[in-house]
Amino acid sequence: MKASVVAHKDFTVSKIDDRVYGAFLEHLGRAIYEGIYEPDHPSADKDGMRGDVAKLVKDLNIPVVRYPGGNFVSAYNWEDGIGPRDKRPTRLDLAWHTSESNAVGVHEFADWCATVGTEMMLAVNLGSRGVDEARNFLEYVNHPGGSYWSDLRIRNGRKDPWNVRMWCLGNEMDGPWQVGHKDAAEYGKLAANTARAMRMFDSKLELIVCGSSNSDMASYPDWERIVLEHTYDHVDHISLHMYFANREKNTANYLALNHKLDRYIETVASTILQVKAKRKSKRDVTISFDEWNVWYHSNKQDRAILDGGNGWPHAPGLLEDIYNFEDVLMVGLILNTFIRRSDVVKIACIAQLVNVIAPIMAEKGGPAWAQTIYYPYYFASIFGRGTALNLIVNSPGYDSVHQDNTPYVDVSGVHNEDEGVLSFFLVNRHGTEAIDVSVSLQGFADGQVIDHQVMVHDNLEAVNTARNQTEVAPRKGSGAKAEGGELNVKLPPYSYQMVRVKV
Ligand code: AHR
Repeated sequence: MKASVVAHKDFTVSKIDDRVYGAFLEHLGRAIYEGIYEPDHPSADKDGMRGDVAKLVKDLNIPVVRYPGGNFVSAYNWEDGIGPRDKRPTRLDLAWHTSESNAVGVHEFADWCATVGTEMMLAVNLGSRGVDEARNFLEYVNHPGGSYWSDLRIRNGRKDPWNVRMWCLGNEMDGPWQVGHKDAAEYGKLAANTARAMRMFDSKLELIVCGSSNSDMASYPDWERIVLEHTYDHVDHISLHMYFANREKNTANYLALNHKLDRYIETVASTILQVKAKRKSKRDVTISFDEWNVWYHSNKQDRAILDGGNGWPHAPGLLEDIYNFEDVLMVGLILNTFIRRSDVVKIACIAQLVNVIAPIMAEKGGPAWAQTIYYPYYFASIFGRGTALNLIVNSPGYDSVHQDNTPYVDVSGVHNEDEGVLSFFLVNRHGTEAIDVSVSLQGFADGQVIDHQVMVHDNLEAVNTARNQTEVAPRKGSGAKAEGGELNVKLPPYSYQMVRVKV
């Protein structure tokens, strides 16, 4: 089978905002406790943060991490997580039916962000709380001193403000599962009032209002329209979430799910324009896709805890999806979609980062390792920076439930002008046929392949574990060649590849 691609230097989508390679950490399961924080772990630093996990995180060069939730934030009191640890209260977390010790709060998280070299993106609680807690939290985090909350921060050991610029106005407020769930108009008014108050403190904040929890919600896409009609002048991004699953064990349909993602982005981008036109506004609002990942492997085993059958355990194993090789392909496809839609998607966060639906797993007292999906995320984050190319792709395809003629070859291309390098991320959705792909490189100097990474496995269900950490891992490819303005590469059946060309 053959496919062809045209990549022209001047035919671009947009400069990619580095923040599309962001991540998310929630007080949920073993994400924080035993994930990033485990004071008794042999690799723990003076703050109790695991060094082995921090190393795997650092290697990903993640630009931003969203915190502290998620559903958790909608009944969270941020004040519980400050001050001396032995005075912090244990609370019941209604979202996940667990207990929260508050041993980690904003100070510890901020220090960890500095260790791993990332920026904090914070969420305020618009479920059980509102404008007042948001303004106080903001003052605590960002005011230099000389006020009640900023002086308290200083007394708690942090002199300089953290100057957090990205703030989420609640989480998934369209979801009936959310503590303090609201309808679109109710939420829109609250979000607008909260945003106004936060901007009175600092007009330069980047504020993110809740869009839909997923595109199957009954309120979608009216939710986006109504919420934006209330908030358009006060926010910068609208947040979208989507999780991907192969419950029917149908790989062809599973791997076509990114078309659904694409339509979701397209619809919300159009809704933004509709509201912009209606308001005769000059401002642009863009998309923060601040929760995305594969999530379904652990659904059944989580039921007992979520239904309350285990009482209120602290940091139990929850949402611990063990990812397989098939998920590598799905995550590659999702990231390709974000690159192709970098004109409107300016922030995206893989959900989550450690232990909870995560690319990184960590055993209590034991090792930390990269799950299968770590790798496509790694390649995109490290090498997918620059300008997204608007590729013309000609590939044979198949009919899936999500789209007719789903192309077997899915590809994104990024031009890093500073380094003079083109990076292509390719997925072959065909299960039995290899595909020869030729990419016509137009407007670029004659190129030379400088890196070629391949992920293939004869078992779609292969996984990495603590004892076998590299069952699914990339290996160096050999067949990619750039010659006479053309790149040629063979994609084995069900494979993910990255090819980098110096131009
Ligand atoms: O990431 C897990 C959960 O998924 C988040 O808490 C919530 O926002 C979403 O429903």
